[in-house]
Amino acid sequence: MKISGLHYRTIWPTASGSVRVIDQSRLPFAFATIDLETLDDAAGAIRSMVVRGAPLIGATAAYGMALALRSDPSDASLDEAARTLKATRPTAHNLAWALARMRAALATVAPADRLEAAFGEAASICDADVEQCRAIGIHGAEIIRRSAAAAGRTLNILTHCNAGWLACVDWGTALAPIYRAHDEGIEVHVWVDETRPRNQGASLTAFELAAHGVPHTVIADNLGGHLMQRGRVDMVIVGSDRTTAAGDVCNKVGTYLKALAAHDNAVPFYAALPVSTIDWSIERGGDIPIEERSPMELTHITGRTASGNIETVRVVPESSRALNLAFDVTPAKLVTALITERGVCAATRSGLRSLYPDRGLSA
Ligand code: MRU
Repeated sequence: MKISGLHYRTIWPTASGSVRVIDQSRLPFAFATIDLETLDDAAGAIRSMVVRGAPLIGATAAYGMALALRSDPSDASLDEAARTLKATRPTAHNLAWALARMRAALATVAPADRLEAAFGEAASICDADVEQCRAIGIHGAEIIRRSAAAAGRTLNILTHCNAGWLACVDWGTALAPIYRAHDEGIEVHVWVDETRPRNQGASLTAFELAAHGVPHTVIADNLGGHLMQRGRVDMVIVGSDRTTAAGDVCNKVGTYLKALAAHDNAVPFYAALPVSTIDWSIERGGDIPIEERSPMELTHITGRTASGNIETVRVVPESSRALNLAFDVTPAKLVTALITERGVCAATRSGLRSLYPDRGLSA
């Protein structure tokens, strides 16, 4: 997507052998990039959420493996890199998926040739992600087109967290259909959940939509239910960090409450996701590990003051404890359909199998 007229991906290799990423911890107030030189740089960027979003976490982990091989291309170094990267964040399936794909690609390559092979494989993971998100956009835009035609007015779409191009390599998952529909001239307006505690909606989704000229309004996380009751939400589209083989969707905490409200108000609720997000080894959403992050993300809030300084202030009494679980699971029964790169399917075991009879192995 474009920033100030220039096309960007969220991650790319540089001529000097490092990997450049957009520093998402500084958005929306500064657009800056960081060069990752080592395995530790890549692991640190994922852990601190300089890069975040399930597909981008996978892409960064893939390049992290390649960076580790710059100093030591041995089997032991591969093992250590995979262990270090796997431990960075537990919920998004794309991380384990990308590491497994890198290991499979490098297993039979002689150590002397591994560095080049690793950068090649990481690049192909990124290219595949772009293509998959583009295809999600095409399939999802079809749903938006039909709904907009039936409504005969601007379509109001609610989204949670950031599942746009910043969360992926390009395009995004939940936002790809919105960009596509907007580019086709369909009138859409997006309700952007602020997404406490880290505010990925207010700071990243709003930034992206503004940069692309998509009409949007940031709302408090708790407003969605009210807007649905008043007929002001036509559909919900969210991303997914891990989708089970039976169609349960794990996404940023708060997604489940939106699905409940959507169900109560007969508002269609879609999850958009590439195959790399599907964990075929898990049936029940309850088996997905939920990341617990620092309580400070909840007790403090960061923003720009009137004088232009970025400051972090405390918003919770010193004596109160805080619990910061970062994801929740929306049961498949609350999901109207899944939008994938292979098309749209029911959020069921058979729905997923109809699109992935090969369980996505060729993806
Ligand atoms: O904690 P984050 O910012 O990495 O979580 C991101 C989300 O929950 C997104 O909605 C998500 O990754 C969906 S897929 C693009």
